[in-house]
Amino acid sequence: MCGIVGIAGRNPVADRLVSALARLEYRGYDSAGIATLDRGQIQRRRAPGKLVNLASRLDRDPLAGNIGIGHTRWATHGAPTEVNAHPHATPRVAVVHNGIIENYRPLLVELAADGYLPITQTDSEVVAMMVTRWLDLGLAPAAAVQATISRLQGAFALVFLFHGEDNLLIAARQGSPLAVGYGAGETFLGSDALALSLFTDKVTYLEEGDWAVVTPDGASIRTREGGAVTRLVHVSATNSNMVEKGPHRHFMIKEIHEQPEAVSRVIGQFVDRRSDSLVERPLPFDFATLDRMTISACGTAYLAGAVSKYWFERFARLPVDIDIASEFRYRQPPMTPGGLALFISQSGETADTLAALRYCAANEQHIAAVVNVEESTISRESGAVFPLLCGPEIGVASTKAFTAQLTTLACLALTAGRKRGVIDDATFAVLLAALAALPGHLSKALAAEPQIAEIARGLTKASDVLFLGRGALYPIALEGALKLKEVSYIHAEGYAAGELKHGPIALVDEHVPVVVIAPSDELAGKTMSNMQEVAARGGPIILITDAEGAAQHADLAAQSIVMPSVHPFVAPIVAAVAVQILAYHTAVHMGADVDQPRNLAKSVTVE
Ligand code: F6R
Repeated sequence: MCGIVGIAGRNPVADRLVSALARLEYRGYDSAGIATLDRGQIQRRRAPGKLVNLASRLDRDPLAGNIGIGHTRWATHGAPTEVNAHPHATPRVAVVHNGIIENYRPLLVELAADGYLPITQTDSEVVAMMVTRWLDLGLAPAAAVQATISRLQGAFALVFLFHGEDNLLIAARQGSPLAVGYGAGETFLGSDALALSLFTDKVTYLEEGDWAVVTPDGASIRTREGGAVTRLVHVSATNSNMVEKGPHRHFMIKEIHEQPEAVSRVIGQFVDRRSDSLVERPLPFDFATLDRMTISACGTAYLAGAVSKYWFERFARLPVDIDIASEFRYRQPPMTPGGLALFISQSGETADTLAALRYCAANEQHIAAVVNVEESTISRESGAVFPLLCGPEIGVASTKAFTAQLTTLACLALTAGRKRGVIDDATFAVLLAALAALPGHLSKALAAEPQIAEIARGLTKASDVLFLGRGALYPIALEGALKLKEVSYIHAEGYAAGELKHGPIALVDEHVPVVVIAPSDELAGKTMSNMQEVAARGGPIILITDAEGAAQHADLAAQSIVMPSVHPFVAPIVAAVAVQILAYHTAVHMGADVDQPRNLAKSVTVE
């Protein structure tokens, strides 16, 4: 997590550092800070809380200098105070860090023996202290950095600024993303292309172990061992206009409304609408001969995978093992070489997902990824990439990436079903038509927003909310609960509807709203029985259904949200929109910070 930025320039950098940090604030917003070099001296301004606090600090007390570094923090070690805010500095060096230095304690002991003592509670400060010790011993900046990073364990993206070095930044990457941007007579560093897009579209992604000596004229990149290396310069498609809220109050609702278009773009990648067939694309694996598929991801992305298990198993008869990446990576599951491992990630940088990917690669699996950020590490380490193409997702709670992931996975399940000879022509035509109609149905689902906003008002009084769903709608119940917790801070749990009576029903009383996701499908009758059980115990039910479901069962529900009638195949994608809007408006009614919920960060690049 954390966003870092650096500018080696020829013009004042303070304002530009803050603007770039604004693009990175989605990565963390516990504190922010910048350091510049003013007549050779390191100067810092830092502030706890959001970037706006740093900006007003800088208004009162500006910083001069044409070279500088900046940081927006998601706290891991040490409270989000000013003293723990980056950049960390000694009189000789300042550093910003994204990641975790796992061996910082023994390093601190070693430094203390030499008389170097910390003043913060962070793991990151040790990096500034170690570089300082090497500089004190007479090493030049590059040698001091190289000597330091060779001792660090854990994950890091680092940018250093040195006393008396007006034209020098040094950057290093191991496990956390870092990109170099090339401008006209200025060079930039940033955690992602979004931050750099303010300045340039020419971007190089540092590889694992790379470090770079950066001046206004460019960057000289070295490998871990110190050898010079050339890395590709990409022209990044990321455009800073993509990150404006437009007429919307929050990014989250803007992104919810972008879903019909996002989903349509995904379908366009897979479906040839003129011939009503799937686009043939070469893949490094063959769905027809696979015995199993392994899916791994975190959070909302994991839940997209959980829905797809139903699709792959039903429509392609392809057995799917799915696990949360943080569990998978340490479970050491046996894997038969030649299998397919699929990873799902909006950011493409999630540390656990990446570790799971590397485990599978080491176990000779074909690696495929469903990713939004195409230049991300997960993309770059995958043999086949299915890009979501839904543009930057800024709201910390994932919405459009989720439905784009679901749509991608639905298309892949169809592809697998055809390749494996499971889906006949007639069924294929029906499923394809269901997919093709999806963007229109999502637009209709969005039209229910005012009604859902009213229903959300009632949820604001609840301390606990249950979400129930069956089959492929069960992961949507989990997602509904996750979204509500994240943005409104109301405790919520999702359950498989059939599981209710095995324990959770003990929670039900008139104060616990139960959101039942049950459009009319082959399992709706079963879920309705569970709804009866809730109603019998006085639980107020919010039913998310379609017109047929409402006609039959609305009497049991305190309130109903009527979504468009769709084929059950795509019903989870439509229901996802309803639970997103419900969570969003609950949070808005409660005055919560929807786009930047407390304690969260969008890109989870630490374990
Ligand atoms: C929830 C949410 C998170 C992410 C998770 C994985 O709204 O956004 O649960 O889904 O952190 O992130 P990515 O998809 O970037 O790997």
